[in-house]
Amino acid sequence: MIKLKRIGHATFTTPDLDKAIDYYAEVNGLLLAEREKNRAFLATKTGQLIVQLELGDEARCTALSFEVAPTSDFDELRRELDKDGIKSELRNDSVPGMGPVLAFKDNKGTTIELFKEWGYLARHAQVHGAGPLKLGHVAFVVQSPQETADFYQRIMGFRVSDWIGDFFVFMRCGADHHTVNFIRGKNTQMHHIAFELKDFSHLQESCDLLGQRQTSIIWGPLRHGPGHNIATYHRNHDDQVVEFFCEMDQMVDEELGYFEPRPWHHDQPQRPKVWTPGKTTVWGPDPLPDFHRDRD
Ligand SMILES: [Fe+2]
Repeated sequence: MIKLKRIGHATFTTPDLDKAIDYYAEVNGLLLAEREKNRAFLATKTGQLIVQLELGDEARCTALSFEVAPTSDFDELRRELDKDGIKSELRNDSVPGMGPVLAFKDNKGTTIELFKEWGYLARHAQVHGAGPLKLGHVAFVVQSPQETADFYQRIMGFRVSDWIGDFFVFMRCGADHHTVNFIRGKNTQMHHIAFELKDFSHLQESCDLLGQRQTSIIWGPLRHGPGHNIATYHRNHDDQVVEFFCEMDQMVDEELGYFEPRPWHHDQPQRPKVWTPGKTTVWGPDPLPDFHRDRD
């Protein structure tokens, strides 16, 4: 079984690379660590790669990378994937600072890249824009969240943190309540990408920044039920929904099986569960009706 330690970065294709770089550098607050003709690599202010951009026909999240233990044996992992009928390849895409990558596709066609060697791309630089601490999670619309959850559990070792009814699942690979989540819908596509900010005051600064740039906050600020993160959502240059959040639930000990107690929890303790569909937020407004836009 693959044991993931954390999410690394997300790769997007975009029809306008310059516009995409401008958003991630000036609004999101990432560093342009490296730029090639058709690719760009963006890092947090601490220098960790979290977004890779590639010139393409349409705006799409094409790949997610995950760090595995430094002792992981890629040949062994390949054999295990093989047994499950999953083709994988060992490649070196010359991603700056990253060693060899074991790549395969998940059940919805997103490329998964496992890595164990990486390097910082910058040193504590100043950034414009929000300046997240890290890439938090990526949510996708899929036709069957059950099937995708099964793949992520069985093949990649994810654990289920929460369900809302039978249509929205939140999954963790580390202490964070969710690193991927899957909601049922018509078209398989990214639902939103989420970046972690330091705290609520950092989130407020990001709201002011969005306000200055006349970028609408399309949902929030609010505190979610599942994950209990405080969140805001806006659209980026490619009409993709981007979340800024803080205070995500943490399961620091899998054996205990509950999230670290927090004053805003209703359950004592807060364990993974199935939430009743409807209003699941602890506080805050409802999303606008066109929060999610189908791409077809
Ligand atoms: Fe989210």
